[in-house]
Amino acid sequence: MVVAAGSGSRLGAGLPKAFVPLAGVPLLGHALREVLSCAAVAQVVLVVPDTHRAQAEELTDGVCRELGSGATVTVVPGGAERGDSVAAGLRVLGDDIDIVLVHDAARCLTPVEVFDRVVDAVTAGAVAVVPGTAVVDTIKQVDGEGYVVGTPARSGLRAVQTPQGFRRDVLERAHAVSSDATDDAGLVERLGERVLVVEGDPRALKVTTRSDLETATRLLTETP
Ligand code: CTP
Ligand code: MG
Repeated sequence: MVVAAGSGSRLGAGLPKAFVPLAGVPLLGHALREVLSCAAVAQVVLVVPDTHRAQAEELTDGVCRELGSGATVTVVPGGAERGDSVAAGLRVLGDDIDIVLVHDAARCLTPVEVFDRVVDAVTAGAVAVVPGTAVVDTIKQVDGEGYVVGTPARSGLRAVQTPQGFRRDVLERAHAVSSDATDDAGLVERLGERVLVVEGDPRALKVTTRSDLETATRLLTETP
């Protein structure tokens, strides 16, 4: 599932972020190319703003034609928060789906290798898997007034990305309790289930601001 229903207020492009062009192709188009290149993907659920369903369908048809993909693509309207959009996507999953990957359209350059790593780890038995990278900055934990209350050892920290992969029953159980979290692994952690981190990729950066869009443009033009 690709969640693409956000407004992109921090990017401020005047249109939903997933539809903002990057080197002439909407972010969602880049994301779809990688998702549809993953051999394990049987169904793609695209969660988009209600106003952009037709545009999402048109974009999908184009990418499917380009890649010769016969995957089932289902387009549904999202909710107020990211978690609500994931919940909306879960409701239209086909009966035959056992493993669910949740991906942010905003991480549009995440290479297919990351999808493969996540799928492989879930197939091998992990109930929840997230891609992550080592943290380069020292991270401080602060209180409400900005005072430092702790410095976690950097070696034990990971910056996590998407796609996050789950056994379907576990993700559904997590969302049945609450959809309120910035990532789905967080919901699964609350169930007491173990979440495995596999290697992420710098290209999986999240496009949030103008400067991220510039970084992504550079990555795209540098990649052979
Ligand atoms: N998302 C979504 N539904 C929402 C909010 C977010 O599907 N109600 C998706 C976004 O489209 C994005 C991903 O979740 O692919 C991560 O969210 P974020 O980067 O915060 O995107 P936006 O919410 O669009 O941006 P902003 O917070 O700046 O408005
Ligand atoms: Mg947001």
